[in-house]
Amino acid sequence: MSSLIIKPGGPLTGTISVPGDKSITHRAVILSALAEGESLITGYCRGEDCLNTVRAFRAMGIRVGEQPDHLRVYGKGLWGLAEPERPLDCGNSGTGIRLLTGLVAGQDFFTVLTGDESVRRRPMGRVVKPLREMGAMIAGRKGGELAPLAVSGSRLHGIAYRSPVASAQVKSALLLAALSAEGVTRITEPHRARDHTERLFRHFGIPIQEDGSTVVLAGRPSVGWPGKELPLPGDLSAAAFFVVGASIVPGSDLTITGVGINPTRTGLLEALTEMGADIQVLHRREQGGEPVADLRVRSSTLHGIRVGAERIPETIDEFPILCVAAALAEGETAITGAQELRVKESDRIATMAMELGKLGAAVTETPDGLTIRGGGRLRGASCQSHGDHRVAMSLAIAGLVAEAPTRIEDAGCIDTSFPGFEGKLLELLTQSARGL
Ligand code: S3P
Repeated sequence: MSSLIIKPGGPLTGTISVPGDKSITHRAVILSALAEGESLITGYCRGEDCLNTVRAFRAMGIRVGEQPDHLRVYGKGLWGLAEPERPLDCGNSGTGIRLLTGLVAGQDFFTVLTGDESVRRRPMGRVVKPLREMGAMIAGRKGGELAPLAVSGSRLHGIAYRSPVASAQVKSALLLAALSAEGVTRITEPHRARDHTERLFRHFGIPIQEDGSTVVLAGRPSVGWPGKELPLPGDLSAAAFFVVGASIVPGSDLTITGVGINPTRTGLLEALTEMGADIQVLHRREQGGEPVADLRVRSSTLHGIRVGAERIPETIDEFPILCVAAALAEGETAITGAQELRVKESDRIATMAMELGKLGAAVTETPDGLTIRGGGRLRGASCQSHGDHRVAMSLAIAGLVAEAPTRIEDAGCIDTSFPGFEGKLLELLTQSARGL
């Protein structure tokens, strides 16, 4: 298990890019595999999570050519997948296992899906229950609440489902199942979660309707969809670490190019701006059906804010790094209504409270969030990632402004979403040390 040592340093200056969007990479691979013919996915996320999804499709008979900057997927149509001979191992990816469970539920074969220790602890009932309502046959530990899951593909039918959680993973699993289901599926969310699946359906020409927070899909389309070129945006959730880094390290002036700014994902930018951050969104454009821009961030003095339940879906993956910004902001930041954070790669409420506490931040854990009294100096400490990539990277950014070096144990998990994170950070620090 590798550890990462961060020495206090900065400023963060210059121009960087970040890996392709992880959420969109999963979906691009899935829809390309179901397309007819070749798709070219450029700027994809090479994190382990997405590579596990690629491996799953290879195990289902799909040829995928893998280069550092692009994937070529040779799709075989909605009914062209083959039964995998072995369990599909989704590794650390909740998105991978939930979306694939939805996809294979309506296929004509048997599949076992599993993942690492963290994935095997995460709730699967949120997809298994509605999929069973569609006619899916799924067995799993604790009555299907926990992976491994065994799916005997069956004939599905559309349902009208009102999801109790705003979860793009639930919505997307059901939409993928709905493709092979008879009739119409309607999914209503309590609050609109990220809409990458809907956008990609439209990009491939698959008819999908949206009405507020309801999406409607007619199953078993009479014609398939051809392969496509898919240039993917940089991942805002990866850029987030540098956005906060540049905001809190004095003297920073950093530009991050080609970042996805889908409005269902930009909660962190809005929260930081309200905290007093200096973030410019430049050169807005559209790429593969998604809005993209360059972000210029200059350091500034931050102050605490309130973040309530209504802001959680758009900010869901950015809470660990938002907590770091809050620890450096003057005054109090109160995050409430964020109980979903307890069922992510780690219990992010507990892990961030514990690890920021080790760095000397004043953090109080509540059942559904955290209260952080910021503004004091952080001290260097030895911290744990808890096997959670976003916790590890957040602590690394905090380490830049600590008084002494910070050690992050078990930092290999960073590779699940951001291989090369450490190198990118060091490169920026060296550039600014050299005055480049
Ligand atoms: C994701 C959706 C989010 C997010 C996860 C990626 C996706 O999960 O936390 O990292 O790609 O659909 P939920 O939709 O379950 O909140």
